[in-house]
This record gives sequence, structure tokens and C-alpha cells, in this order.
Amino acid sequence: MVTQGLTPEQVSQFEQNGFLLLRDELSSETVKKLYNETAFMLSQFSLADHPMTKFSTDEEAHIGDDYFLGSSDKIRFFFEQGAFSPTGELVKPKAKAINKIGHALHNLNPTFNDSTVNDRNRAIAQSIGFKNPYVLQSMIICKQPEIGGKVPSHQDSVFLYTDPPSAVGFWYALEDCTAENGALSFVPGSHKWANIAKRMIRVDGNRKGTGFIKIEGVEASREPLDEEFIMPQCPAGTLVLIHGSLLHKSETNRSQKSRYAYTFHMIEGEYKYDNLNWLQVPPTEEGGANFTRLYA
Ligand code: FE2
Repeated sequence: MVTQGLTPEQVSQFEQNGFLLLRDELSSETVKKLYNETAFMLSQFSLADHPMTKFSTDEEAHIGDDYFLGSSDKIRFFFEQGAFSPTGELVKPKAKAINKIGHALHNLNPTFNDSTVNDRNRAIAQSIGFKNPYVLQSMIICKQPEIGGKVPSHQDSVFLYTDPPSAVGFWYALEDCTAENGALSFVPGSHKWANIAKRMIRVDGNRKGTGFIKIEGVEASREPLDEEFIMPQCPAGTLVLIHGSLLHKSETNRSQKSRYAYTFHMIEGEYKYDNLNWLQVPPTEEGGANFTRLYA
């Protein structure tokens, strides 16, 4: 039996809006499995040998270190900034202090691998025009109670750049997302007017880290207005497809509940992924980055 991708209506909605919500994409059993696996990982990781990396999409934030830059083929744990006191003490239990886990769950964790590399996702990728989809990276976003940090308006292709841009996010709600716990909001159609005018790169040299460079010949677009964002209902089990040029954001989680989500990004294998990108997938024995293919 051929696994169905998106319907023509869904494809045209995605093309028009730059995002698409597929409610009940995951069964409640699968949601529970992924949630429990997340909780298990959070309870198991070791604080003792952790370099206390923090992650933020804020351009000023210091996010560059080996732990982060070397995470493309590992499962690593990144802290919320709000999990530390001004003097650097952890003020939350470790399971409630992690912002995200990344970036190779799709390879290294069998539960997450099942929910990533499968016929359904292959069919979805094909319906939205991918010829040779690669899974570039995967993350669990924890959005912890009280401290789950806000993610300012951004476009994913800035962080996961191919030439031409091709990233598409697959984002699964593992808990109900609400205005209180930091649900996603989007500027519908912004993928059509908001250019990818810069990209995040790896900086080597004295100070390893990340930075941004302008993309030559591409004008930066205007900033979106607050009132342009919409926040659709997004219950647990929903898959949100997010075009890499779409402006989206999420607010701080001020509630007493977490907002776990699993997300991975596909890129088009036919396009150029160069070694300026901050995220570098180690090579295979034959050479060439060892991307996870969605097609055999
Ligand atoms: Fe994003």
C-alpha cells in the first residue's frame, strides 16, 4: 500500500501560508511514547560532566562552544537561561532546567527515529516538492514551566542554510500548546516576502562560536508587526510543517506546565549545503556528509 502524503488542498494551504497544521498526525500512543522517552532522557542525563551550555536564538547570546557545535551526531542537553541564578547556580531540578535536546535524536534514539524516518514523512516531503530529502537535525524543545524562554521572530533557513534555501521544519506538539505555555505563532504568507538575507555560520579561530553573515545580493526584508502573527490551536499530536522562510516565534512559558515538542528539519539533498554552516554532519567513510536520507 502506498502511504499518502498531503492532499492537494493541504499542499496549496502550505504554499499559500508557509505553514500547515495536521491535527492528530500522531496517535495518542505515539505522543505518550515520545513524551515518556523525553522524560526518561531528562531524568537520566548526567549533570556531572555537563558544560552548562545555554541556547538562545538571540543574536547576541553566546551560543558557540564545542558542546553545541559538535552536537550534530550526538544527543546533548542545552539549558534554559532562566535555570541559573545570577551567580551561575542551577536553581531548578535538572529535568526542569533543559531548554532543548539535540541534534541527532533521529539517528540515535530508536523511538524518535521511528517518528522521523518513515514512509509517511517521505510522502509528505514528496508532496511539498522534495526530490531527495535529508533529515539535517532533530530536537526536543522542552519549553519548561515558568522559565521556558521566548524565541524571537526568525526564519529557520537562516540557521539551516542551503543554496537555494530549502529547509522545512516538521514540528510535533507532544503537549497541548496554548498562549500561556508558549505556543508557536506565525506570519501567514511571510515566506513569500521575507527574504533569507543572512545566515548563521560557524566561526573558527581564537574564539570558536557562531555568527551571522549577509547573503550577497539579497535585501533584508522589513520586520514583522506584532499584529501580523497568528497563533493557531495546536493540541498534542499535531504536526506543524514550517517553511524555512516563514517568520515565526514563541513567547516565554509563564505557566506551571511544560510544552514539550519534537522537531526535525529536512533540507533538499540536491542543493548545496556548505561548510560555512554552523551545523556540520561528519563525513561517511567514502567522504561527503553523512546526512540521513529519507529516500533509500
Ligand atoms: Fe524555528
